[in-house]
This record gives sequence, structure tokens and C-alpha cells, in this order.
Amino acid sequence: MRLLFIGDVVGKPGREGLAAAMPELRAQQHPDLVVVNGENAGGGVGITDATAKEIFEARADVITLGNHTYRHRDVYPLLDSDRRLVRPANFPAGNPGRGHTIVEAAGMRVCVINLSGQMHMRVERNPFTAIDELLDSLAGAADAFVVDFHAELTSEKVAMGWHLAGRVAAVLGTHTHVPTADARVLPGGTAHITDVGMTGSRAGVIGVRREQALRAFMTQMPVRFDTADEDVWVMGAAVEIGDDGLARRIEPIMIPAG
Ligand SMILES: [Fe+2]
Ligand SMILES: [Fe+2]
Repeated sequence: MRLLFIGDVVGKPGREGLAAAMPELRAQQHPDLVVVNGENAGGGVGITDATAKEIFEARADVITLGNHTYRHRDVYPLLDSDRRLVRPANFPAGNPGRGHTIVEAAGMRVCVINLSGQMHMRVERNPFTAIDELLDSLAGAADAFVVDFHAELTSEKVAMGWHLAGRVAAVLGTHTHVPTADARVLPGGTAHITDVGMTGSRAGVIGVRREQALRAFMTQMPVRFDTADEDVWVMGAAVEIGDDGLARRIEPIMIPAG
């Protein structure tokens, strides 16, 4: 089973870049399953009903989210009604949406889980114990498990890779928008990368117009942030998963959008 995983799609430039690059990516990677992190799809922060649908139209099978999940209220009904949209599993259970979904890909039942770090992030439950409980409750329900670990710290993300090594097919990091060079299959057969990077403008500062980000750093005053739109790249990872539900290989992806 071939998984194509795409990092945080940032604003309209990210959405358009994703749609433009997808045909080439599909031709290169022949994915059976496409998972896209969409937590920055709506105006650079959060996701809306319309932007979620736009990403599905670009042929994402599942959209994962993160700390900005609830920024736009108009997506709450879709979070509840569309099983292809997942938000962090360690958020309060009563919040809109679900933390995992099970989809069919290449004859396998693949469970896609979204999980949030707890360092510099607000979560209800510790991600390490929350994922243990979730995997216990899902035993036998899927043939392979893919985790989007949306977290700030490299240490927490590396630790999660080791925590789940041999138990899931992949632990793919998102949120920091900067790709890391550590993609590998951990002993036990778990593909891991600390962060896959983002789908957005490399001319800005992790998706924001660089002059605005610089002004904020230089003055420490409130600055309005707009989404940067030049030099859009698509970043992610391709993972090959065997019938045993474990990874054979992981390849980072980083291509210009158009
Ligand atoms: Fe993000
Ligand atoms: Fe985030």
C-alpha cells in the first residue's frame, strides 16, 4: 500500500499549489491513499467548510488537522458529519469531530489518526497515553495505522516515533512547517519523520509574508499576518506499507507546485 502524506496546506497559495502538483505527484508516486494536513488551509489559520471541500476535490482521501482545528466555526458541522476529516484524538471527546478514521486502500483497512503534542500546545490528554489507549481500543479494527503527530518540539516528535515503533506503519510529524532530514524506517517497521514540512510559500516565514513576520520580530508589536504567496512548494512524504501493516520505506517529498 502506498501512502502519500502532505504537510500543512497554508492558505489559498497552498490549496492551489496542492491542486496543481497533485497530478504530477500521483503519476510519480501512484498512491493508494492520500492524507493531507489541512490545519492552515483557511486563510492560513484553521480550515473552513469550503477549503476542506477544496482539498477533497484535489483528491485527498483524508484530511488531518491540529492546534488550529476550531478557528473557523463553519467547519464544525463538517467535522461531525464527514468521516474523512480528523482532528487530534487527544482533544476533549465531546468536541466537534473525531480523532481517527478507517479507510480502505489497496485492499487494506487503514486507520488514520491525528494526535497533538502537549508541549506548547493545549490538549486534554497526554498524547503518549492517549495513543496507547486508542490503539488498544482499535486492536483488530484496522490492518495498518498511520499517525499524523502534530507537535512543536523535535524531542516530543522523536519520542513519539520510538513510542510507536513496531506498533504502527508511520508516525509523520506536522505543525512546524519546516521539513526535517531524518526520514527513516525505525526498527520494528515504523516510518518516521520529525516534520514533513508545509505546502505553501517558501518566500515567507512558515507561510506568513516575510516583511510582516520580520516586523513582528523586530518591533514586538502586534502585526497583521497575511499568507505569503510566492514560490509555493509541496512537501510531504511517501510511505510504502506491507501487508503486515508495517513500513518498508519512506521518502521525503519536496517539489515546486507549478
Ligand atoms: Fe500548521
Ligand atoms: Fe499547527
